Amino acid sequence: MSRIPEALKKVRVQQDLGVETQAKKVGRPQVLPEDLLDLADSLEEGTRVGCRRERWDLQESIVTRGHSKDRIIAVEELRKLCAWLLQRQRATSQKTLLVTSGMPKEGKTFLATNLAWIMAQSKNQKVLLIDADLRCSSAHLMLGAPGVPGLAEFLEGKAEESQILQQGPLSNFFFIPSGHCPENPVELLTTTALKKFIARLSTQFDWIIVDSSPVGSICDAQLIAPFMDGILLVIGAGASSAEIAVRARDLLADMGLLGVILNYVDPREAYSSYYYRAYMGKRSKE
Ligand SMILES: Nc1ncnc2c1ncn2[C@@H]1O[C@H](COP(=O)(O)OP(=O)(O)OP(=O)(O)O)[C@@H](O)[C@H]1O
Ligand SMILES: [Mg+2]
Repeated sequence: MSRIPEALKKVRVQQDLGVETQAKKVGRPQVLPEDLLDLADSLEEGTRVGCRRERWDLQESIVTRGHSKDRIIAVEELRKLCAWLLQRQRATSQKTLLVTSGMPKEGKTFLATNLAWIMAQSKNQKVLLIDADLRCSSAHLMLGAPGVPGLAEFLEGKAEESQILQQGPLSNFFFIPSGHCPENPVELLTTTALKKFIARLSTQFDWIIVDSSPVGSICDAQLIAPFMDGILLVIGAGASSAEIAVRARDLLADMGLLGVILNYVDPREAYSSYYYRAYMGKRSKE
C-alpha cells in the first residue's frame, strides 16, 4: 500500500519559525554517442549541450502519479510553492535553489524531485534537478532513472556534461544524478568546478533545483549554499525535533534561506476547513 494515503504526508509551506514561507559500484562511465540527444531546439544558441534521452520508470513517490485525495492535496501545495517561487523570481531573478534539512529522511529528495517535476509540468518551466547528495543519493530511484554517470564523475573529470545530463518523459525536465559514491565528497564539493558548472547551466534553465544532504552532521550542503540563489529547508513533522529545526534554520539564516517546507503533515488536520471539505466533496462527486 502506498505510503501517501496511509499517512497523508502532504507538503505544506508554513509561516512558522520566523521565516518567509509559503548503488552502485561503477567504473569509468560509458555513454555511447547514439545516446546523446541534441537540445538544439530547447537551448540557446552558443550554450547548447547534448544530453542523454532516457526512459525513466517513475516511482510512486512522484505525486502526479495517481489521483488519491492526498496526492491532489500534495500537488496543489507544490503548485502554490511554484507560484510563490515564480512570483519571487520576477522580483529577484533567483533561479538556483538548494533543498536541505536538519536531519536525514525529512523528505528533501521527495520535495526537490516533486517540486522540479511540477514546476516543469504545470508551470512550463525548463527545470534541471541535480542530485548533489553524494553520500546518499536517491532522486534517480524516485525517477526510475539511471544513477550513473553523474555529478561525482563530472567533478572527478571522468564524464562530460553531455554524458551526465538526462532528459526523461517531459520535454523540459532535465536531471543530473549524483553518480557513484565518491570517497572524498567534501573535496569534490570544495573545488570551484561545481560553482562554475552551476553558473554555466543557469544560463540554460529557468530553474536549477539541487537536492543535497542534511546540514545536521555533515557540511556538504553548506559548501554548496554560497553559490545558490536560495535555500529551502525541509522539516519533517514527527521526523525531526523543534530544536534541530531551529538549529538548522539559524545555521542557514545568513546563507540565503528562503523558507521552510513542513513535510509529513496530515491533511486531515491541516485541511479541516469548510472550504476543503466542500471542495473535496465536490471533486469526489465528479
Ligand atoms: N510527503 C511525502 N509523502 C509521501 N512519501 C514521502 C513524503 N516525503 C517523503 N516521503 C518518502 O519518505 C522517504 C524519505 O524521503 P526522502 O528520501 O525524500 O528523504 P531525504 O530527506 O531526502 O532523506 P536522506 O536524508 O536520506 O537523503 C522516501 O521513501 C520518500 O518517498
Ligand atoms: Mg535524499
